[in-house]
Amino acid sequence: MPVASISPASVPAAVNQGPAATLIYDDWYPALRTEKLHAGKLAKAMLLDTPLVLGRRNDGRVFAMRDSCPHRGIPLSVGWFDGEHVTCRYHGWEFEPCSGQCQLIPSLTAQDRLDATRIYATAFPCEERDGHAWVFIPSAGSGRKGENAELQQVPELLKFGPRYRTAHLMADLPCNVDHGIIGLMDPAHGPFVHQAWWWRSRASIREKIKKFEPILEGFRMSAHAPSGNSAPYRLLGVYGQPVETTIDFVLPNRRTEIIRCGDKWFSSLTTVTPVTSSSCRIDVIAAWNVFYRVPLVTPIAKFFGAKFVRQDQETMIQQAEGLRHNPSLMLIDDADKPAKWYFALKQARLDGTGKHPMAGPVELHWRS
Ligand code: FES
Ligand SMILES: [Fe+2]
Repeated sequence: MPVASISPASVPAAVNQGPAATLIYDDWYPALRTEKLHAGKLAKAMLLDTPLVLGRRNDGRVFAMRDSCPHRGIPLSVGWFDGEHVTCRYHGWEFEPCSGQCQLIPSLTAQDRLDATRIYATAFPCEERDGHAWVFIPSAGSGRKGENAELQQVPELLKFGPRYRTAHLMADLPCNVDHGIIGLMDPAHGPFVHQAWWWRSRASIREKIKKFEPILEGFRMSAHAPSGNSAPYRLLGVYGQPVETTIDFVLPNRRTEIIRCGDKWFSSLTTVTPVTSSSCRIDVIAAWNVFYRVPLVTPIAKFFGAKFVRQDQETMIQQAEGLRHNPSLMLIDDADKPAKWYFALKQARLDGTGKHPMAGPVELHWRS
């Protein structure tokens, strides 16, 4: 089923970029929505400061290459694609796009000894899942990732049955990925940034106690009954069954939220992806079977989802104004504890120590 995407707004060009973040390479990131990949067309994307050209081969397979010809560096995206080969516009070298292998150098004569097939453009592992083109960006100098390279699993949105509806939302954020991620996991901004009758208001602030436990390269907010003060969760009460939510955060950038209520479920995967070291993009993909039969539920869900994401985006555009001057910042307990874990987990990944900041399950208290 094709999924329409909504982008709440693009970031005004006048917003300057703030401080850069260290990026995590050797992992999968969503580069663009695959609905943008049409037969015979090339599409551009930027991911972790890496310019990419993406496309879909005639056999349906998606590919992602560095948008740069290995001969003289012109972007391959200005060349041609016939569904099988990407042809450089400068001297016509032809590349097989999934492997990057050069298969033709038109200027060679019978006397030339150069074997074109020993030349490779940079092709990155690329997989289509949940409407995202996921691209694996290796760290510099880690060598070419061939088509059979052993890599982590491609992230996937969890679904709990064959019948469901889906939606996608995205927004560009003018801040680095660290600010995007800690903004995403921050519980204390809800009543201020997202105040609205259908979500929650300042007046509804009350103390929350949440249990967290360590998981591999991340942490889980253990299954709990969701906040009684948010209308969307209250709506699920119509099913008359206990409602349970689990939220996981896992490096490098993934937040999974699962809400279950009897055999009804809602599942979402939110990623904050570095576009450059000082800008990022948030994508939310969701699937659900709650209110499956209610007409208009998808457009309504998208309307409110887009509004929610736009509120975060507007706040981060304002925050970017402040961050331009490189202020010193702080993280406080307990509301910013998940942000502290994020930074510690990231450091452990970058150092290769694998050390987890949590010794075991903990309970956090905050008001939101
Ligand atoms: S620059 Fe691409 S073929 Fe020469
Ligand atoms: Fe938010």
